Formats: sequence, structure tokens, C-alpha cells
Amino acid sequence: MIVTLTMNPALDLTTSVGRLLPEAKLRCGPARLDPGGGGVNVGRVVGALGGAARAIFAAGGTMGQAYMERLVGEGLETRPIAIAGETRLNITVAETDTTAQYRLVLPGPELCEAEWRACLDAVDADLVPGGFVVASGSLPPGVPTDFYARISAAAKRQGARCVIDTSGPALAVALLEGVFLAKPNQREFCELTGVAPADRQGQEQAALDMVRRGAAEIVALTLGSEGAIIASASGLLRIPPVSVEPQSAVGAGDSFVGAFVLALSQGRPLENAACLASAAGVAALLTPGTELCREADVRRIERELVARMGLETPDDAWQPVPATK
Ligand SMILES: Nc1ncnc2c1ncn2[C@@H]1O[C@H](COP(=O)(O)OP(=O)(O)OP(=O)(O)O)[C@@H](O)[C@H]1O
Ligand SMILES: [Mg+2]
Repeated sequence: MIVTLTMNPALDLTTSVGRLLPEAKLRCGPARLDPGGGGVNVGRVVGALGGAARAIFAAGGTMGQAYMERLVGEGLETRPIAIAGETRLNITVAETDTTAQYRLVLPGPELCEAEWRACLDAVDADLVPGGFVVASGSLPPGVPTDFYARISAAAKRQGARCVIDTSGPALAVALLEGVFLAKPNQREFCELTGVAPADRQGQEQAALDMVRRGAAEIVALTLGSEGAIIASASGLLRIPPVSVEPQSAVGAGDSFVGAFVLALSQGRPLENAACLASAAGVAALLTPGTELCREADVRRIERELVARMGLETPDDAWQPVPATK
């Protein structure tokens, strides 16, 4: 069982408009509402790829209610932690006259100390030796910057592995505590280390340095269309890019993390886990809107990556699947 934590979930409202212009009344296309938020998305990906996940998340108000209703049938166990504030709404608008996609992200409700402590306690109660907790997404107002560091400390106390996918000070402080796996993207990595996104050598060195000083056992630096770099005690692993025609970039990072953690939890070698992760990230681009990744796409791209990297083919647990679902 993989436990995920989402402190600041959001209902994702997706719609379309010809052109996003100021002042004019903009007639939009039909709206779609999906339950979003890093940890919940990671849990949905784990479920979509055949694993078991439990999502712990803060939820409040009528939006929180609507959020929980939309998680039914998503293939994961849910553990909502009640909060007084209203769960946020994030808005994605796709321009139909162009291919531009606008992502409006709101701060989320403020949590009081009792509320964030309840989230911490819920995670603590679910940690088991050898287990995984994935803390993903931003921290809402009111939650201390060292919150993810506390999650990682709790995981260490119980012999569990903590995966962090966040940005800014919350990430920096968690790395001071030390985590099992950190998955920054190029922007987050640049913010953290000062290494420019174009400086590939600098990125590789900085990622290895993070491993050497114990900030993370594994650093998975995802490079968007350029693949990923994985640093660990065994050195560097470069996952090559896969060229696809993107439908929507939403969920690439969460799909990467979900697949990575699932594969690691199954005891698969790091190279194979990283291939599955990258395949899931790429597969997320093939689905429209906020939809994450489809299993058949993941398996197909995984086979391509495994072959290109000269690895042994995925073991028997991974049956060949048709190219489309
Ligand atoms: N344009 C792309 N073309 C091919 N693969 C991509 C592209 N964008 C993302 N990927 C795949 O998805 C993985 C994660 O993407 P990225 O580095 O953009 O993460 P992220 O910024 O955390 O994503 P998100 O926007 O979902 O938060 C990459 O390592 C890569 O495998
Ligand atoms: Mg991300």
C-alpha cells in the first residue's frame, strides 16, 4: 500500500475559449471538473497501473464535498481530513484559436495547527517499515514550511521511505531533513540549487551532490521534453526523451512519481523503475485535459525506453498490451 498526502488538493475546472482576452465576456466551452492535487493524482496513477494507494488529503466546505464525490471510482482508498476552510478550485483554460493553455492556481484555504497536525498524525498512523509515503504539491497557508520535513522524519522513525514532490522552501527544508526520493523539475531544481536549466553538466553534478550530502537517496530531476536525470548512490542515469505530440501537459510530473514509486515498491531495479516513470510522464501528454496516463500507453512507451536503454525487458509481471485502449 502506497500512502499519498495532499495538503492542498483542488477541484480542477477545465474549459475552453476561442481567445482569452481582457474585458470581453468570454463564452466558454463545457466545463469539466476533476479532483486534482499532487498526492491524489499520484495515487490515481498507482491505481491505474495496478497498484494499491491510500490518499490522505485535507478537505473542507462544499468544494471539499464535491472533491470527495469525484474521487469515487478512481481506484484508490481515500482518507479525507476535515478542515474548516473551503477546498480550492483551480482553473485550466485551453484556447481553441491557439494551442495555448492557461493554468490558474489559487492559494487554497488556511489550515489551523490542529488541522495540519491531524494530517501529520494520519500519515504517521499509516507508515510501516519498508512502506512509502508520497507528499506532493504545495502547502496551503497556515502549514509550517517544515511540514514535509516532519513527514520525512516520521517516515525515517518508522523505517518507511518518504517521497517529496514540491517546490520552494518546503522542498529545501525537507532536503535538510533528508528524504528517500525528491522529484524536482528544471524550474524547481534551478530555484533550489541556482543551476541554470540549460546547464546539463551542472545539473548532474548538483543532483549527485545532493545524494552525497544525504539530502535525498534518489534525486529524479525531470526535464520535460528532454527526459530525466536520476542521481543515486550508484551514480547517474539518463532517461532519454520520447518525442510525442502533446495533448495536454497536465499530470506529467504526477504520473512520473506515481509510476516510479509503484515500481520501486515492487522491488524493481532503479533503471527499470525510472523507465516506467518516464513512460508514465510521456503517456500523460497523450491524454486531454487533466486526465493522467493510460496504462496501455505507459506499457508501450516503457518497452520503447527499455529497448533504447539496452535494459532487460520488463519482467513477466508486465504483460505486453495493445498499443491503444
Ligand atoms: N513535452 C514533453 N515531451 C516528452 N516527454 C515529456 C514532455 N513533458 C514531460 N515529459 C515527460 O514527463 C516527465 C515529467 O515532466 P516534467 O519534467 O515536465 O515534470 P513536471 O514539471 O513536474 O510536470 P507537471 O507540469 O505535471 O508538474 C519528463 O521526465 C518526461 O518523461
Ligand atoms: Mg511537478
